Amino acid sequence: MKSSVKLLAVITILTCGNYAWSAGTGADGVFEKIHVDLSDKTSLQRGAKYFVNYCLSCHPAKHSRYQRVADDLGISESLTKDNLIFTDQKFGDLMTVAMKREDATKWFLGIDPPDLSTHARAIGPQAVYEYMKSFYADDTRPFGVNNLHLPNTAMPHVLINLQGLQKAVFHEEVGKNGKEHPVFDRFEISQPGSLSEEEYERVVVDIVNFLAYLSEPAQLVRKKIGIGVLFFLAVLGVLTYFMKKNYWKDIH
Ligand code: HEC
Repeated sequence: MKSSVKLLAVITILTCGNYAWSAGTGADGVFEKIHVDLSDKTSLQRGAKYFVNYCLSCHPAKHSRYQRVADDLGISESLTKDNLIFTDQKFGDLMTVAMKREDATKWFLGIDPPDLSTHARAIGPQAVYEYMKSFYADDTRPFGVNNLHLPNTAMPHVLINLQGLQKAVFHEEVGKNGKEHPVFDRFEISQPGSLSEEEYERVVVDIVNFLAYLSEPAQLVRKKIGIGVLFFLAVLGVLTYFMKKNYWKDIH
């Protein structure tokens, strides 16, 4: 009885935690739930390419090594050196950033770009997806963009050349306190980028997939072991069934 009360308490805390997180973002309900697919190796490889090209200049992934990523995603050492390592770093090095932390903090309104191998895990893939999809034009912000998921964010829209610039359309609604407040309606592309909407969607999904992998690389190994264990149990099940049949065949 006691343990079931404890279990109930844990479930309540966990669900409330999730609710608190999702209630905090202006992008709630705007986007569909995304499906992370770690079995899609080509998506993970593309995600790695986007990550080193567009994110690693500011965000480190201090718990990951190029070599481990290359091995897990099936990328050869020479391809990794040619396409994923742009600094004088080595194949076995950690994915750190050349930029000094003090500089980063100074440039980005006093906010240090978080380490993405741990931060992406903390906020979850859905949050990363919504963040990358909800930058919109806002002249009042230092980089000319705001973000629906993380209002007044310090991060520039680094994929603006790909997605283009979108504007956010809001309408006014009267709240419980009798005051009007803006409610998000939709995004409209005001300045097209080099990619279509579908192509940009693919890019974001690849990045999210890669970050989901990066935040817990053991997932790939665990899944492989899991499949092996299930296969073993299936074989064992069949053998046990025939053994049972054999033992009981003379007993009626
Ligand atoms: C020019 C520097 C810079 C680059 C490049 C950059 N970011 Fe950021 N990023 C930041 C800063 C600064 C923050 C902190 C924003 C804040 O807290 O307002 C941030 C925050 C984030 C967050 C946390 C959002 C949250 O809800 O807490 C995510 C996720 C993220 N960036 C993803 C990316 C991805 C993916 C890329 C590459 C496609 C990227 N960033 C490229 C500077 C950068």
